[in-house]
Amino acid sequence: KIREPENESYNSYAPGTPERKALREEIDHLKNQEIEIPAIIGGQEVKTGNLQDVVMPHNHRHKLADVHLCGEEEVQRAIAASQEARREWATLPWEERASIFLKAADLITGPYRYTMNASTMLGQSKTPHQSEIEAVGELADFLRFNAYYLQELYEKQPYSPGGMWNRMEYRPLEGFIFAVTPFNFTAIAGNLPLAPALCGNVSLWKPATSSIYSSYYIMKVLKEAGMPDGVINFLPGSGADVGDPVIESELLAGLHFTGSTNTFQYLWKSIAENIEQYKTYPRIVGETGGKDFIFAHNSADVDALVVAAIRAAYEYQGQKCSAASRMYIPESIWPDFRDDFLKEVQDVKYGDVEDFSNFMGAVIDRKAFDNITSYIDYVRDSDDGEVLFGGHYDDSEGYFVEPTLVLAHDPKFKTMEEEIFGPVLTVYVYEDDQLDETLELCDTTSPYALTGAIFARDRHVLKKMSDYLRQAAGNFYINDKPTAAIVNQQPFGGARKSGTNDKAGSAANLMRWMSVRSIKETT
Ligand code: ALA
Repeated sequence: KIREPENESYNSYAPGTPERKALREEIDHLKNQEIEIPAIIGGQEVKTGNLQDVVMPHNHRHKLADVHLCGEEEVQRAIAASQEARREWATLPWEERASIFLKAADLITGPYRYTMNASTMLGQSKTPHQSEIEAVGELADFLRFNAYYLQELYEKQPYSPGGMWNRMEYRPLEGFIFAVTPFNFTAIAGNLPLAPALCGNVSLWKPATSSIYSSYYIMKVLKEAGMPDGVINFLPGSGADVGDPVIESELLAGLHFTGSTNTFQYLWKSIAENIEQYKTYPRIVGETGGKDFIFAHNSADVDALVVAAIRAAYEYQGQKCSAASRMYIPESIWPDFRDDFLKEVQDVKYGDVEDFSNFMGAVIDRKAFDNITSYIDYVRDSDDGEVLFGGHYDDSEGYFVEPTLVLAHDPKFKTMEEEIFGPVLTVYVYEDDQLDETLELCDTTSPYALTGAIFARDRHVLKKMSDYLRQAAGNFYINDKPTAAIVNQQPFGGARKSGTNDKAGSAANLMRWMSVRSIKETT
């Protein structure tokens, strides 16, 4: 029996600690080798020869690896390999499957800890702390808690009156699951193919090419943990080359997706177009964008608000779907907030993540850099908003964007409405007596509903704000920043255009990957 796990604790990497030394050594080790990242199909390394450079976002002349990109041929091989592995994997006692996941978690938090952290730092430009909380902590938490939730699900059985034995048999889906994973969280990248696999499914995994470096180390950990060949097939490549042929397969049984709203909608439509040929209706689970808010009342603690805003807007360069990117502040506390914020933000250092004193690294790649900076340029050219702090950017060595604060004169200003996915926070100052109207604006300004935070000391006001914003966020924070949900503490997911809200880090997510057989036996 699996005991209820505890969340993994984090190393601080404070100066003088042995962990700091070990992490530095691993960084040097990884930087001084250039590796080849193959596809992995049926447990075999496959080198397609269609190569792409993997570079460090904070120093784009430094190459970490070459990745072999896949196409239609590798997709067909992977589908065949997955089906070969499926029968045995699906019928393995669940405890044996779970033990592989628990072993993987112990490898990630043990011998692979510095590799997971350093590969995420270098490949995705995360600070040691940001890497530690997710590429180590959250990834291990997903593996351990999902195994525990599976046990709880299997133990949950229906009522049997006398003379019969009713039971539920939790079967995996017939076919394979397609996992399409994002660059911004190593843990989410790992969880999307793994959560269905724990339930007995087999997966085709298309990792984001921009975070392929850490994703590849997950595959190494899985092999060492004893994951059978063909259960998880690793297919680096573009959406068109890998995604399109996968969607056309009659064996597609599910899509587990995190990424952009546009891509999710494209995949959903493609699945709809192919619906007649699938053997089973594919389950569609997706997390997409956000335009996450912090809403302050005039009774809010301004110090707490400043810390929350800086952390939620700028940690990992704002490249979290949960990052705060719009703020509503009442006029009466705005001068205090502005002065404190401008003072604090001076200390937000950004640059090379290998300098552990930096709070922010680079944004992920040129496309992201161009997109984020186009918003900053837009603000500069507009009369409806102004840059109050930051706004500088430089891509000569790495893709660096300064933490930026924008003041919107219009609550529907472009940067209040659109997801930027970068370190740009926009503030709108409302009149204190316009609380209801501004709550209404907050609820209706963006099509998303992922995360949001409210700040007030007055409990009646908190209740009212929470009620108004009932549908505005899947993860809602009261007097706290809206980022860094923890597995088993704040199950994560958003509604509206942010996703299907099938809470990652809870049993609800696992249920999507199972097809239950209800059995009645007369005794
Ligand atoms: N789960 C991530 C967070 O909460 C996205 O920040």
